Amino acid sequence: MRQVTVTEHLLLHQTKSPAATGQFTALLYDLILAAKIISKSVNKAGLLDVLGGTGQVNVQGEHVQKLDEYANRVLIHRMERTGVLCAMASEENADLIRVPERFETGDYILIFDPLDGSSNIDVNINVGTIFSILKRKPGASGSKDVTLGDVLQSGVEQVAAGYFLYGPSTMLVYSSGQGVHGFTLDPSVGEFLLSHPDIRYPEQGRIYSVNESYWHYWDEPTREVVNYFKGPDNPLGKPYSLRYVGSLVADFHRNLFYGGIFMYPMDYRLPEKPQGKLRLMCEASPLAFLAEQAGGRATDGTKRILDIVPGELHQRVPLFIGSAGDVDAVEAIYRRHS
Ligand code: AHG
Ligand code: MN
Ligand code: MN
Repeated sequence: MRQVTVTEHLLLHQTKSPAATGQFTALLYDLILAAKIISKSVNKAGLLDVLGGTGQVNVQGEHVQKLDEYANRVLIHRMERTGVLCAMASEENADLIRVPERFETGDYILIFDPLDGSSNIDVNINVGTIFSILKRKPGASGSKDVTLGDVLQSGVEQVAAGYFLYGPSTMLVYSSGQGVHGFTLDPSVGEFLLSHPDIRYPEQGRIYSVNESYWHYWDEPTREVVNYFKGPDNPLGKPYSLRYVGSLVADFHRNLFYGGIFMYPMDYRLPEKPQGKLRLMCEASPLAFLAEQAGGRATDGTKRILDIVPGELHQRVPLFIGSAGDVDAVEAIYRRHS
């Protein structure tokens, strides 16, 4: 059988969708190139002197691993030269990343988590790059310079979203609103080949993924949600299997194929500021876009993730994402308690 490369697939979809342009294909092409470079380094992580922390703390107050920083640099360096972006935002940068004046600009906005699951790098467990692509609204800011207001769009506005998963093989899972498609990097030819067309969640989920060590910091409804999946009174009629790697991108990917739910609820670790951990714009929204395109759902417990308008770039949000029936069940429990 003839293999379809990701470039062929993009070109095919470009002709199908009037919204897609050559600029958009060029953007993805450069993003794929950046991911191949990151993938190469991740594969060599144990060989090169790139393991361990830098000793620095990022804007979220977390320790930065060397590979996070490297992945961030690769993405910014490559993507600011594409000529089709007006701004970027990264989990690792406090502010908006503007395209330097010496480069051409366009209307697209790229938001990314350069390396998700970075605490897993040192132990050779899957990590990934999550991305979200938005378009600047015509005349939105009224000024030539891109503003934060141009970027703070709800997830429903995403033109495309996806992730690269650096695992036993490197994969790209992506959607531009016409289903979710998976590509696997063939390292011998350096091409992503279509390996998983039209990915859909299985009808019945069988996995729940959550860090249960936070049990004591959860409220009653959240404990009830988790009990629902670990007990026998659910549509499966028996406890779901618990799987939690600690790399959102890997946990999401597994559940997409096996069915089930990933949860990162709000907790009271900071009693004065109960909150979720995951970031709306660079983690929750892009994966919510994929989930819905695959027939699943994503909520913060009461609201659809894609409808939340961010108030700030690094806003955190509780996240329940996966098979539609499982996410429905979570919302029903929170509704009963409200
Ligand atoms: P990142 O490495 O980009 O900072 O993200 C880590 C996130 C996410 O990947 C994962 O699901 C979650 O942190 C794990 O958090 P806990 O250790 O609190 O379970
Ligand atoms: Mn992350
Ligand atoms: Mn990260």
